[in-house]
Amino acid sequence: MRPLDDIAGAARGGTLYGVGVGPGDVRYLTLRAAGIVRSVDVIGYFAKQGLQGVARRIVAPLMERGRDELRLEYPVTSELAVDDPAYRAQIGDFYHRSAGSIADHLRQGRSVALLAEGDPFFYGSFMHMWRRLQCEFPVEVVPGVTGMSGCWTRANAPITWGDDTLSILPGTLPEDALAERLARADAAVIMKVGRNLAKVKRAVAAVGLTARAIYVERGTMENERIVPLEQCRSEKGPYFSMVLIPGRGRRL
Ligand SMILES: C[S@@+](CC[C@H](N)C(=O)[O-])C[C@H]1O[C@@H](n2cnc3c(N)ncnc32)[C@H](O)[C@@H]1O
Repeated sequence: MRPLDDIAGAARGGTLYGVGVGPGDVRYLTLRAAGIVRSVDVIGYFAKQGLQGVARRIVAPLMERGRDELRLEYPVTSELAVDDPAYRAQIGDFYHRSAGSIADHLRQGRSVALLAEGDPFFYGSFMHMWRRLQCEFPVEVVPGVTGMSGCWTRANAPITWGDDTLSILPGTLPEDALAERLARADAAVIMKVGRNLAKVKRAVAAVGLTARAIYVERGTMENERIVPLEQCRSEKGPYFSMVLIPGRGRRL
C-alpha cells in the first residue's frame, strides 16, 4: 500500500493552487488538499479585518510554525452594499492588488496555495484570482467538500431523491424572487442566509415549505447549530448559515 503523502503529491514551484478546504472540519479535506497545504511554499487566504479567516482556521491543525503566509484582508465586507459603486471600486482594487502579490511569489518560482472554504469554484473569492492569473501561471484547482454537503450530512438530511431537481438560491435575492423559485423547486439550498434570515423565513413560509426546512449554522464547525426552521426564532444568523429544504422524490 502506498503512503498517503505519496498519493496526495506535493506542490510544484511557480504554480498557484486553489485549495478547497471543505466546510469546516479539517478531516473533510481531500488527500490532495492536505498534500498541497503541507508542501506549498506560501499559504494564502482571504480574511475579514480583525478575524483569523475561516479557511485558515480550518487548516490550522496541518500547519507547522514558521510557514510563509500571505494574508489578504478585505478592505470592506458587509459595511457597503455589493451594488454600491464604492464597494465595487474598493473590492476591485483589492482583488487587483491581491493578484499582484500572488504573482510576485509565483514569478520568483514559489508555489502558492490560496485556501477556499468549501469548494473554490462554488461562490469562492478564489475565482477572482483564478480569472486574473490563469493565463499567465499554471493553476491547479483542488475541489473541496462544499458547505451545503457538510450541512445536509450533519443535518442527517438526504437532499435529493429520484428525479428531484435541486435549486441553489442566494438568500440575497429579493423576497418575491426567492418565493417564486422555491415554489418551482423539488429541493432547495438557500445560501448567504446570515443577515437575510428574516426575509428567507418569510419567503419559505409564503410557499408553505417551513415545515420541511432545516436551518444550519456553521455546519461541521465549532458552535454548529441545526434546528428545524420553524423553531428558529432568530432574525439574523452568522455569515456561515444556510437553509436546507430536502426533496421528497422517489423512495424505493
Ligand atoms: C461565499 S459562499 C462560499 C461557499 C463555499 N465556497 C462552498 O463551497 O460552500 C458563503 C456561504 O456559504 C454557506 N456556507 C458555506 N459553508 C457553510 C457551513 N459550513 N455552514 C453553513 N453555511 C455555510 C453560507 O450560506 C455562506 O453565507
